This record gives sequence, structure tokens and C-alpha cells, in this order.
Amino acid sequence: MASRIPAVTLHNGGKMPMVGLGTYQGHDAEMRQVLNVALECGYRHIDTATVYENEVEIGDVLHEWLSSGRVAREELFVVTKLPMTGNRSGDVSRFLQDSLDKLRLSYVDLYLIHSPVGMKANRKGEFDMDTNHEEIYKAMEEQVDAGKAKAIGLSNFNSKQIERILKVCRIKPANLQVEVHVYHQQKALRELCRAFDISNRCESFVGRSDEYPILLQHPVVTSVAERLGRTPAQVLLRFLIQNNLVVIPKSTNQKRVKENFSVFDFELSREDMASLEALDRKGNGRIIDFKSLFKGIENHPEWPFSIPY
Ligand SMILES: NC(=O)c1ccc[n+]([C@@H]2O[C@H](COP(=O)([O-])OP(=O)(O)OC[C@H]3O[C@@H](n4cnc5c(N)ncnc54)[C@H](OP(=O)(O)O)[C@@H]3O)[C@@H](O)[C@H]2O)c1
Repeated sequence: MASRIPAVTLHNGGKMPMVGLGTYQGHDAEMRQVLNVALECGYRHIDTATVYENEVEIGDVLHEWLSSGRVAREELFVVTKLPMTGNRSGDVSRFLQDSLDKLRLSYVDLYLIHSPVGMKANRKGEFDMDTNHEEIYKAMEEQVDAGKAKAIGLSNFNSKQIERILKVCRIKPANLQVEVHVYHQQKALRELCRAFDISNRCESFVGRSDEYPILLQHPVVTSVAERLGRTPAQVLLRFLIQNNLVVIPKSTNQKRVKENFSVFDFELSREDMASLEALDRKGNGRIIDFKSLFKGIENHPEWPFSIPY
């Protein structure tokens, strides 16, 4: 069954469905079950990464669907990412091949550099202070030449880092994946991407923060949701989609996986869009800066969050 949801066309002609399944922290039987439910309800776009350590489970489920003919490879849009420990030109090919082996695929639709910060591969959690984006990106382009990635892109890169890549690239990044939600709308970064025909995928649409009211319970969001007979999550997703942004909500709850996909049979009015746009907290709305995950990351020369965008 082909998915009939809208898709963004990438500069290589590839079609990226506007809703994908986020899989961070999805593992084992739960991951397999959720992916089966997602594929059954029509998801065809799946987001994973080496560091999520779930490519084997995802690969097994995809293999079952592909080998039984329930889905064709061309209908799927599979994304995975080069880990920080692979941020060296000589490591890119090996890491992508490892992901492909686990995913049981011969190519991915999009391969992203997960983070502009590099780490040494010695498992001691040391940063690699010599991260060279231009060199890494050249090795990413070679993966397209080799047919192992249909498109390549970036994740968590800032405007200056993107501009540096654009100056040297032979194959333009097709996508930038960054944190975007109602509290952190990233208008300037999105504008830069639009100018260079780089699509955007948004992570963390729920925008959970300790500092602000939970977005899912924000009165503006809940009142729009109540009036339209939708859930707050659907309103938040719809806001992003109507801004031409691709979303990759993550849930391990089957009901919510279905709910997050049912966002194409209603529309937010111009007034509703404006009231949600007014909730933007700009730089203060950012949740993800990786400081709590990687101690001292802000001292790396390529830590992306030292400038506004
Ligand atoms: N490139 C990167 O560095 C990066 C960083 C962050 C995320 N990502 C990608 O983006 C995906 C999404 O980001 P995320 O996992 O940070 O955040 P998210 O999609 O905003 O999900 C956050 C939490 O919201 C809950 N949720 C999902 N749908 C819901 C609904 N309809 N109603 C109420 N709660 C709901 C989920 O809990 P339940 O499971 O309990 O439903 C989930 O744990 C990730 O899985 C990953 O694939 C990438």
C-alpha cells in the first residue's frame, strides 16, 4: 500500500514524506512493534541513527515488509546518520556500510552528519578537536557516487557551518535536521535553507522544557485543539507542516503513533497559525544543546550553539 501523504521534493528529485517516524530510544520488541504499527498506518519515512542502536530492529522489520511485497523499496524513505565518533573523512564509508548492513538495505535515502562536533573513536568520550567538515563532507559525497546514499545532509549545523559546506560542496546538502517547534521556530535558519533549496526536518516537536509551560498544555494550543476536535500534538505537528517543514515525531505508544500520522485531514486557519507563531521564544526556546549529554561539548570549536543560529 503506497502512502498517499504529501512529500517534499529534494533537489535530487527524491520525495521525502512530510511525516516520518522518529525512533530515538526505541529498542527491541517495542521498536519492532511500533514500526509495524507505523508501516500499517502508512508511515514510509523512518528516521534512525547509528547512536540510536536500533538499526538492527528496524532492518528486520523493513526486510519482512520488503520480502513479503507489502512495501516496495522505492516507497520507503530511510534516513540514518554518521555518529560523532565517525566524524573523520576516513571513517564515513565504514560507518555507512555498517548502518546499511544492519538496516539490510543497499542504500539509504538520506545520510546525515549527525553533529558538527567530532569525537574520538576510543570509547573514552574524548572530543576530537580537529573535526574538519569540508573533508568529512567530501567523503559523504563519495557515498552518493557509490550509490549508498541517494542524498546527503546535515544535522545540528549552524548557519556559518552550512555556508562553509555550501562553498566547497559538489553535491549540495539536501536536508538540514534541527530542533524546530513552536517555542523555537528557527525562522532565520529556515530562511537560509530555503534560499539554498535545503529541506528541513524538525526534531522534538513536543518542545518539552522545564522553563516554560508544557506546549501540549499551553492554553493557545489546547484551545485551537478543542475547537477543531483534534489533539494538542496534532495542532503542533500541523503548525510545522503548514510551514512546509517535515516532522519526525517519536512515540513508542501505538495510539500516539497513529495520532501523529492523522494530520492531513484538517487545516489551521491563518489566525490559528499567527497565534502559534506568536509563542516563539526564539533562542530561549531551545531545548537541545547536548551539554547535559556530553560534558564540556561547548568547548569544542565546532559546537554549533555559540551563535544565535
Ligand atoms: N539529529 C538529532 O540530533 C536529533 C535530536 C533529537 C531528535 N532527533 C530525531 O527526532 C525524533 C523526535 O525527537 P524527540 O524524540 O526528541 O521528540 P518528540 O518527537 O518531540 O517526542 C518527545 C516525546 O513526546 C511524546 N509524544 C509523541 N507523540 C505524542 C503525542 N501525540 N501526544 C503526547 N505525547 C507525545 C513521546 O512519548 P511517548 O513515546 O510516550 O509517546 C516522546 O517521548 C527522534 O526520535 C529522533 O529520531 C534527532
